[in-house]
Amino acid sequence: MTMPGRSSKRARVGVLVSGRGSNLAALLGDAAREDAPYEVALALSNRPEAPALERARAAGVTALGIDRALFTGRLAHHLELLRLLREHGVDLVVCAGFDQILVPAVVEAYPDRILNVHPSLLPAFAGTLHAQEEALAHGVKVSGCTVHLVTAEPDAGPIVAQGVVPVEEGDTVETLSARILEQEHQLLPRAVRLVATGRVRVEGRRTVILPPNP
Ligand code: GRF
Repeated sequence: MTMPGRSSKRARVGVLVSGRGSNLAALLGDAAREDAPYEVALALSNRPEAPALERARAAGVTALGIDRALFTGRLAHHLELLRLLREHGVDLVVCAGFDQILVPAVVEAYPDRILNVHPSLLPAFAGTLHAQEEALAHGVKVSGCTVHLVTAEPDAGPIVAQGVVPVEEGDTVETLSARILEQEHQLLPRAVRLVATGRVRVEGRRTVILPPNP
């Protein structure tokens, strides 16, 4: 993958959000560190009222809510998101609590350069907005989160990183979700750094994580 990462330029990250934005906040915090190989250049939401946008603005990042209702369909809506990503010079896209499946035109515009965070150990509980609830209902003893590259099929792209958490006796959807979310906040910035520094090589449906530059 050719990212600007192996040079000294910081990758420009565009974050797609739909709601609360705690993962976006984790990225903003990480990007503020001196050694961060990326900056958050833009936050885009399909929901103008998403609290995530305020978090980005508070950090001085351009944050735009692009209302789906103003477009004739998902394709036109997502092409506008793509136009804005390009206009802001975005190198790498992160879906952080983005509740829509990206149209193929967007996926193809950023091959192996779109990350998604999903609150399960994929491929378990893929393609659902209720992964934690389904994990509990299934009776799994461990769960966690996955950061993967986005391909045409939802939650099915090559895995970059996973974090595991135990399922405790008496867990509710809320307690399990909170434990997983804490992991997401660690894992997502780590995965973005890996991609931003060109350390993720895609081989078929696997990724190979390359060692850091000496
Ligand atoms: C996270 O659990 C993420 O895995 C899922 O949606 C949630 C978003 O949370 N895709 P937040 O908006 O980042 O707080």
